[in-house]
Amino acid sequence: MHFQWYPGHMTKAKRMMQENIKLIDLVIELVDARAPLASRNPDIDELGKQKSRLILLNKADLAEERWNDAWKAYFEEQGFFCVKVNSKKGGGLKSIQAVIQEACREKIERDRKRGILNRPVRAMVVGIPNVGKSTFINSLAGKAAAKTGNKPGVTKGKQWIRLNKNVELLDTPGILWPKFEDQSVGLKLAFIGSIKDEILNIEELGMEFIRFACREYPGVLAEKYGISEAEDAYVCLNGIAENRHCLVRGNELDTEKAAALLMDDFRNGRLGRLTLEYPV
Ligand code: G4P
Repeated sequence: MHFQWYPGHMTKAKRMMQENIKLIDLVIELVDARAPLASRNPDIDELGKQKSRLILLNKADLAEERWNDAWKAYFEEQGFFCVKVNSKKGGGLKSIQAVIQEACREKIERDRKRGILNRPVRAMVVGIPNVGKSTFINSLAGKAAAKTGNKPGVTKGKQWIRLNKNVELLDTPGILWPKFEDQSVGLKLAFIGSIKDEILNIEELGMEFIRFACREYPGVLAEKYGISEAEDAYVCLNGIAENRHCLVRGNELDTEKAAALLMDDFRNGRLGRLTLEYPV
């Protein structure tokens, strides 16, 4: 399976990120817990090298818990702060405030020595498309959070959300661009919906997913769609179309629709908690 990828429109996003990163103390990087490496853009390490770093394993509810724990340990070993979260339901969000303070302890200490007291930590949320940045900001900020508006010294037009007396969050997330040199990474990004389906062949994607699921999670598709996993991926896709009554022109099986339905089921957790990659 081959992807076409046009990084051109990401140039603007990168420029914006370079500007915004100057204003903050802490980078809150969201990754998809089902594929925490594939859904990172390693350029953020260079962009955020002077900053405190927190990685959030978002959509932790969609990934296997034992692998969530393994990934948390993996990132912590690399010197990042790391929290498992479910931005949609709010899981893990409570512990974040304390971790933010911890992650910025040096900066707070430095401020204190220079006589600057109670200057809030400034943070920005970053991540590739579809990892849950907007959902996270909305859940964390909640209804009560007031936008602080422009302040002296802050680039005109920037909006900060005051989370509490210690933390302010830039209200628009930094969009990172998916990055992959090898097709297996591209495939994981396509599975989690970070590469737009429009540029993909959805049937091929569905068949790749069937191959993955039958190999790593045998029984899941058989149980969900009543298919035989012993058959090849195309037969399985037809089986899903049959099971879900995906038809065109009255009686022909619509494998395109079946593939879209399969990916939707996976992306929304209806196939259970599945992890796409494991730490080494
Ligand atoms: P982005 O800003 O990074 O592009 O992502 P966004 O917040 O738009 O979230 C992308 C999708 O992921 C949304 O689903 C959102 O609800 C879902 N999502 C975000 N965080 C979590 C999480 O922790 N767990 C789960 N299960 N889902 C999460 P959608 O289908 O596009 O929209 P909606 O129908 O859910 O509103």
